[in-house]
Amino acid sequence: MEIKKIFVVGAGFMGTGIAQVSSAAGYQVVLWDTKKELVTASLERMDQALANRIAKGKLTQEAKDELLLGISISEDLNDAKDADLIIEAIIEDEAIKCDVFKKLDAICPKHTIFASNTSALPISNLANATRREAQFIGLHFFSPVPVMKLVEIVKGLKTSSETSETAKAYIASLGKAGVLVKDAPGFLVNRIMHAFRQEVLTCLEEGVASIEDIDTAVKLGLGHPMGPFELNDFAGLDIGAATIQTLYENFKDPKWRPNLTMKKLVAAGDLGRKTGKGWYDYTAGEKRPRTDINL
Ligand SMILES: NC(=O)c1ccc[n+]([C@@H]2O[C@H](COP(=O)([O-])OP(=O)(O)OC[C@H]3O[C@@H](n4cnc5c(N)ncnc54)[C@H](O)[C@@H]3O)[C@@H](O)[C@H]2O)c1
Repeated sequence: MEIKKIFVVGAGFMGTGIAQVSSAAGYQVVLWDTKKELVTASLERMDQALANRIAKGKLTQEAKDELLLGISISEDLNDAKDADLIIEAIIEDEAIKCDVFKKLDAICPKHTIFASNTSALPISNLANATRREAQFIGLHFFSPVPVMKLVEIVKGLKTSSETSETAKAYIASLGKAGVLVKDAPGFLVNRIMHAFRQEVLTCLEEGVASIEDIDTAVKLGLGHPMGPFELNDFAGLDIGAATIQTLYENFKDPKWRPNLTMKKLVAAGDLGRKTGKGWYDYTAGEKRPRTDINL
């Protein structure tokens, strides 16, 4: 099937990136969120990111203008009525995602493929909210989307081969590498990454080293581009906490027990860079150790 029009559900961190790379690849994109202001703010962030690329000589003004012209904004799910592909990137909450998919199922034509960017939720459960399980798939992008080359392509229990072939072709057209992954909690990359993060959090709790020293050690000793606490702040503590919760609930294995400090930070609204504070404090415009919390 040929994909021409893509409806991106959620103009947050991931939805913004998915809309950007899709428009850059020549697709007609509609970017939706619950309020128009959220989509406008998303396009402003994109505009700024693209301007930075122009300043570095990595993009032309013409390409930027064309990319932004390729994206229209929406706060009405009915605008998905002629989309070929839906990519959902809203809050990591199964009930809320299912509710939106159910609404879209009633709006979209039969041929429309539904994809979720969930970090860990079972794709088959989300597909069950619709009557198009064969045309439902997981497309798990990584952040920042314009930079990260990998996308996990997750086949649910009833996803058809035609749907996965179309999804593979779409991912390849973005210049990204797709890996086919079974519908297992956390898929592949998050399962590996969270196993690593669990040990990092145990080391912090045991007082083996400080947050700053763990980040430095992982960057310089293991060659990771970001330390685990920096990465958690970058991607959002709410996303990390929801992902570990999904792993814990599905596997019922104590090795996935959610970290209590992370839960407390999420409950306090300290979600990382997006709220100004997480494991670090960013409110002064740069990353600083937190001096206002008791760990
Ligand atoms: N942040 C990451 O690094 C990352 C990586 C891969 C996948 N994901 C997944 O992508 C999805 C989005 O994550 P994000 O980091 O972009 O989050 P975000 O917080 O930046 O954006 C979430 C979006 O959901 C919308 N939203 C909130 N409540 C809603 C509701 N009730 N109905 C409809 N929309 C609602 C918000 O307006 C917001 O635009 C999640 O499923 C997350 O697990 C995130």
